[in-house]
Amino acid sequence: MSTIAVVPGSFDPVTLGHLDVIGRAAGIFDEVHVLVVHNPDKSALLPIAQRVSLIQQAIADGGLPENIIVTSWSVGLLVDYCVEVGAKVLVKGIRSQVDVAYETPMAIVNRNLSGVETVFLLPDPAHAHVSSSLVRQVAGLGGDVSPYVPPVVAEFLQSPR
Ligand code: PNS
Repeated sequence: MSTIAVVPGSFDPVTLGHLDVIGRAAGIFDEVHVLVVHNPDKSALLPIAQRVSLIQQAIADGGLPENIIVTSWSVGLLVDYCVEVGAKVLVKGIRSQVDVAYETPMAIVNRNLSGVETVFLLPDPAHAHVSSSLVRQVAGLGGDVSPYVPPVVAEFLQSPR
C-alpha cells in the first residue's frame, strides 16, 4: 500500500524553504499532497487558487519528482482531508525552536483528532530565515524577493497587478 503524506500550509506565497521541504517529503513518501489551507490567524495576500497555481508552476519549473499533487482545502479540519484521501502523515518544515513551539501543539491535536502523525523535516539551513510573511512585507514595499522565492513567484509579485 502506498504511503500518502500531506504537506499543509498557507503558502502565501510558496518560498524556496517550502519547496525544499516538499522535495524532501517526495523523496521519502510514495505520494505527497501539498495542501493550501486558509490560516485564519494570518491576513492573506493571494487568493487560494493563485497560491495553488504558483506552487504547481514552481514544482514543474524546479524539476521536482512527479509524485506531488497540489490542491486546497477550505471545509473543516486539516485532518478531515487526510482521512478523505487516506493520508497517515502530515509533514511540516522546522526552521528553528520557534517552529517547534508553534507546530507541537498542532501536531498533538491533529493526532488526537484523527491518529494522523506529524513528521518534522529540517530544510536546508540556507532557507532558515525565509518566511512567507517576510516575503509579503518585502514585496509590498517594492523590494527584491528573488533570493527567497522561486522565479515564477518573484515574477508574479513584482509584476503590476
Ligand atoms: O503555513 P502556516 O500558516 O503555518 O500553516 C498553518 C496551517 C494552515 C497548516 C494550520 O493553520 C492548520 O492546520 N489549519 C487547518 C485548521 C485545523 O485543522 N485546525 C485544527 C488543528 S491544529
